[in-house]
Amino acid sequence: MANNRLDIIIFGATGFAGKHIVKKAAHICKEQKIKFGIAGRRKEALDAVLKEFASDIENVPIILADIKDEESLKKMTEQARILISCCGPFRFYGEPVIKACIATRTHYVDITGEEEFMEKMQLEYNEAAKEAGIYVVSACGFDCVPIDLGIIFTQQQFGGEVNDVEVYMSISSTATDNKNSYLNYGTWETAIYSLAHAYEQRELHEKLYPTKLPEFTPKLKPRGLGLVHRSDVSEGWSVRFPSADRPLALRTQRFLYDKYKERPAQVEVYATFKSFIAILMLSITGMFLSIMTRMACGRNTLLKYPSFFSFGFISHENPNMETLKLTHFSITFKARGWTEKLATPTDKHTNPPNKEVITKVTGDSPSYGGTSIMVILSAITILNESDKIPDNGGVLTPGAAFGKTSLIEQMNKHNINFEVISSIVK
Ligand SMILES: NC(=O)c1ccc[n+]([C@@H]2O[C@H](COP(=O)([O-])OP(=O)(O)OC[C@H]3O[C@@H](n4cnc5c(N)ncnc54)[C@H](OP(=O)(O)O)[C@@H]3O)[C@@H](O)[C@H]2O)c1
Repeated sequence: MANNRLDIIIFGATGFAGKHIVKKAAHICKEQKIKFGIAGRRKEALDAVLKEFASDIENVPIILADIKDEESLKKMTEQARILISCCGPFRFYGEPVIKACIATRTHYVDITGEEEFMEKMQLEYNEAAKEAGIYVVSACGFDCVPIDLGIIFTQQQFGGEVNDVEVYMSISSTATDNKNSYLNYGTWETAIYSLAHAYEQRELHEKLYPTKLPEFTPKLKPRGLGLVHRSDVSEGWSVRFPSADRPLALRTQRFLYDKYKERPAQVEVYATFKSFIAILMLSITGMFLSIMTRMACGRNTLLKYPSFFSFGFISHENPNMETLKLTHFSITFKARGWTEKLATPTDKHTNPPNKEVITKVTGDSPSYGGTSIMVILSAITILNESDKIPDNGGVLTPGAAFGKTSLIEQMNKHNINFEVISSIVK
């Protein structure tokens, strides 16, 4: 890799998430003396982003690149040691960028939460990324860093052997004005297309993992018959959460089993809501959306009227940055297992689980402020700690890539807090 490259280029800097990342990069990169540039397809818009969010940093280069122009992508990626991509939906915009990174031997991180895109990239580019000696790590934002690394943190703190981890996520807001939207239109568009293609996931997953893992017992079953339940670790009503977090965490666990022969944790992920009515409305809306997204006319209607179909949560207007700062996330991990670790991961414990550890990950502004910190620190971790990342390259999950690095410690320094709440031996 030529050493006259910029450390980081942020591609998609004119997007809503991209602007947040530039804003945080201006702060973190200045502090750590890291040279970054910004990229996109519109020069004037990029100038405006620098003026608004990085005016106190001199000489931030602007690079023009368009996803539809392969050469422009390569000219961009060859100028960076690592590229942060925030151009989504990634199912449409992600692959050409990864190809350009492999061609120019440039590390890559992104902020996708699109499970199908991630598994497809692993299937198709893992070997090429290894040969090029670069890391391709998707989902380095709120999707899916806190849960994936939260599970690893819990396993590291457990002291013994974990059988299963139940994860409860809740989001709250201290904003007094509830009229604002909380997610940008780009996320709505991404979610609509992900739902529309959800049925393709199974086939892809079977191609990626033709052999099944051995069965680990006791088997973790979804609570509340897979419907609603109340948990002793999360106040309110909880329901299984169909985000990319669980499948991604399971891919990480599988990686750790294949690579280090560590016993994989079974995982369930729930979202908690204070009111039962909210959970009921959300479940009905979820079912309705998954039917609507199957048809082109349904998708078009949803894309046209985001505010109506999301109860005002998402609109064509950008969310208010001040309101977003007042949103908070809290993720609780309840792990069960044994005080003793057996010699091999497939050895069977003769006694039932005798230890329970509860941990928590908390922070502010999950989707934008939090995501920006997580993806920038992920990129810096690849630059500084590649000796602690497995293999010499490849397409990895955040947990597989960063489990043995100092990323959790770095996030703690930036107010994304990983902590142990309790540890009980029964
Ligand atoms: N992990 C997380 O928690 C998290 C959080 C936030 C967002 N996201 C994901 O991030 C993605 C972006 O979200 P967003 O709200 O920022 O969307 P957005 O505001 O629509 O931004 C999309 C970006 O892609 C760029 N782009 C589109 N087509 C392009 C092309 N042909 N060539 C070059 N650039 C192109 C846009 O450039 P122009 O400005 O020139 O159109 C813009 O910079 C979505 O997939 C969203 O789901 C994830």
